[in-house]
Amino acid sequence: MAFDRKHLLGMDGVTREEILTILDTARSFREILERPIKRVPTLQGKTVVNLFFEPSTRTRISFELAEKRLSADIINFTASASSVKKGETLIDTVRNIEAMKIDMVVVRHSSPGAPHLLTRVVDANVINAGDGGHEHPTQALLDMMTIREKLGTLEGITVALVGDISHSRVAMSNIYGLRTMGARVLVCGPSTLIPKEIERLGVEVYYNVDEVIPQADVLNILRLQLERQRKGLFPSLREYHNYFGITRERLEKATRKLLIMHPGPMNRGVEISSDVADSDHSVILEQVTYGVAIRMAVLYLLAGGKSEIN
Ligand code: CP
Repeated sequence: MAFDRKHLLGMDGVTREEILTILDTARSFREILERPIKRVPTLQGKTVVNLFFEPSTRTRISFELAEKRLSADIINFTASASSVKKGETLIDTVRNIEAMKIDMVVVRHSSPGAPHLLTRVVDANVINAGDGGHEHPTQALLDMMTIREKLGTLEGITVALVGDISHSRVAMSNIYGLRTMGARVLVCGPSTLIPKEIERLGVEVYYNVDEVIPQADVLNILRLQLERQRKGLFPSLREYHNYFGITRERLEKATRKLLIMHPGPMNRGVEISSDVADSDHSVILEQVTYGVAIRMAVLYLLAGGKSEIN
């Protein structure tokens, strides 16, 4: 089995063999999730802390469910209800929690690099659940699992990431993972929302979504990260929708049946119209389902992955 990591901090540097191991392990867990009793004793005796310093619906619930399905003990930490409010630092918070004998930390933080910092001060396994605009590795893995389960492969598939590329940790992790797996990656959005020199990561840049749609097998539509943007990067949400919003009319330019993906949360009527989000092209809710299996696989493999998955 090609997996010998202590932490999962990003997709940058994760090998093809490691990605395949995670995706194949997640497929086994996906089968367990279809059973009447959706629980295995794999992480019995392990304690996982979910440290969320930023809001989350999908990632937080998905990790918690994955940990429960693996029989781990779980501590949920919410910054707004903690001593962080009294000035305690991230490092002191985590050192104190680790002193209570925990094994794994899942962390979401608005500062890029926060999970990396934690690996220097704690012995526990650290999983990045999103660090600012930097990386969101388990989102990229569940996106890749969705594409592979739906289209049979990642190799040679054309995936277009459409929207706010500059502020998106989902985009960065998808680019690293998809390029490693041999996919062609197009990025498309307003020039103000595409990082300079992003071509160096092996992607092709487009500023016109109507040129991208006929080439793509998959559209992964990204939210405008308004909370991370400075003002003035585009004139208005209405104008953004007119130029980059994915609508049913635009999809008529597709040359094959496209997979429509979105990591959530969606802004309906901005980056995606409701009829597209709810269409039979959309695999947005399936992404969420695969997310639990991916997080089970990551937790299992980081914990040593020694017990049988049964
Ligand atoms: N995709 C994603 O990270 O969603 P949440 O912010 O709800 O966790």
